[in-house]
Amino acid sequence: MTKNVLTVSPYKYYVNGEWKESQSGQTIDILSPYLHEVIGKVQAITKKEVDEAIRFAHESQQKWAEASLQQRAAYLYKWADELVNMQEEMAEIIMKEVGKGRKDAQKEVVRTADFIRYTIEEALHMHGESMRGDSFPGGVASKLAITQRVPLGVVLAVAPFNYPVNLAAAKVAPALMAGNAVIFKPATQGSISGVKMIEALDKAGLPKGLVNLVTGRGSVIGDYLVEHEGINMISFTGGTNTGVRLAERAKMIPLVLELGGKDPGIVCDDADLHETASQIISGAFSYSGQRCTAIKRVLVHENVADELVSLLKAEVERLSVGSPEQESTIVPLIDDASADFVQGLVDDAVQKGATVVTGNKRDRNLIYPTLLDHVTGNMNVAWEEPFGPVLPIIRVRTDDEAVQIANKSEFGLQASVFTKDINRAFAIANKIDTGSVQINGRTERGPDHFPFIGVKKSGMGAQGIRKSLESMTREKVTVLNLA
Ligand code: G3H
Repeated sequence: MTKNVLTVSPYKYYVNGEWKESQSGQTIDILSPYLHEVIGKVQAITKKEVDEAIRFAHESQQKWAEASLQQRAAYLYKWADELVNMQEEMAEIIMKEVGKGRKDAQKEVVRTADFIRYTIEEALHMHGESMRGDSFPGGVASKLAITQRVPLGVVLAVAPFNYPVNLAAAKVAPALMAGNAVIFKPATQGSISGVKMIEALDKAGLPKGLVNLVTGRGSVIGDYLVEHEGINMISFTGGTNTGVRLAERAKMIPLVLELGGKDPGIVCDDADLHETASQIISGAFSYSGQRCTAIKRVLVHENVADELVSLLKAEVERLSVGSPEQESTIVPLIDDASADFVQGLVDDAVQKGATVVTGNKRDRNLIYPTLLDHVTGNMNVAWEEPFGPVLPIIRVRTDDEAVQIANKSEFGLQASVFTKDINRAFAIANKIDTGSVQINGRTERGPDHFPFIGVKKSGMGAQGIRKSLESMTREKVTVLNLA
């Protein structure tokens, strides 16, 4: 393993186009999940510095709202180009900071550039509408309502550790194209990747004050940001508990929350089991299951359960386990506490009678891929989100039973249905209470222009490029009264 190559530290925060050290004099250590050493430090900024960042954001936003779409687009195209230029450097940092394989980290950066470009193009092609007065009884043709979308002001963008660049830009890019300014708060683990992403934006020459990067302790600036009167909209991706807390504290402003999931893979008895197994494995174990959209439980018809379990077992045992530097699929989890939580779920299930098909081995925060069969509703792993490489299998007798267990979850992000019968697929999909249902494919967010929706404890509002642009603007109606 390459040790400590990230020598440039402590990293500064970014406000009004300047990189600054916090007056707090305090920094936060960023510990690599697999090198187990501090790879950098970020600023622990103060509430006063948050106030200052928000003030600069408001000042710059007024002029930005008047800039033409083509002017905004020019800066964002440059940002996308800079990210592509920096892809190797950024991949190295993402890998070291959040333990994602180098190739996947590089793909994340390129995916982000594509995301930004598509966002620009979508924004350029979004137009308002008009409505004639005489379409309503008693209305008159001399009235014309013109509906346009206008920016909200300052958007607070809070990104998670698992896609520290892509899910950050997925908020910053639509916010900017829509004419807003941004306060960007990366996950603490993910802050250095966030700094690099903002360096690319700085190189693109974005007018100062429009995007401000704030890093710090959640206990000091977390609630403060959320409750701040200068924040006009919040777009958050992260854990459900934090999201619920945020929703309780935010004042009367629009919120988009993308939270956890417990996505089921429902396997019917007529499914192509080889293809199904391969989709489930990729869905459940990529990046050690640290994806909100990972397949987090399998609900399989009892007639084909033995065959599916044996196919899954063979594939799980082929998964590479180790370091992101060797492109292993299974890598150490983000921290020791996360690994403790996952191990606790496994221990609980085993103690209550689940069968360990393979796995249940641990080396510090590296959890080996674990397949649990005969999981039942009294086990925590049937309902809780591990965010780790553990896949419970629940055997069902009917499609209705699968739907009932799927919907009993407090989460509602995505679900997969595997069957060769399209009518059966739709019959199940129509009854599933999630934002999206995948038919014969793994659960996943992309392509990134698709609407991405979580219901119940998986979130509120919608992402996906057009949806994000809509969520970061509001409609404004001007009525023309013709003489
Ligand atoms: O972790 C949540 C992400 O939005 C999942 O994205 O499906 O592309 O891995 P993904």
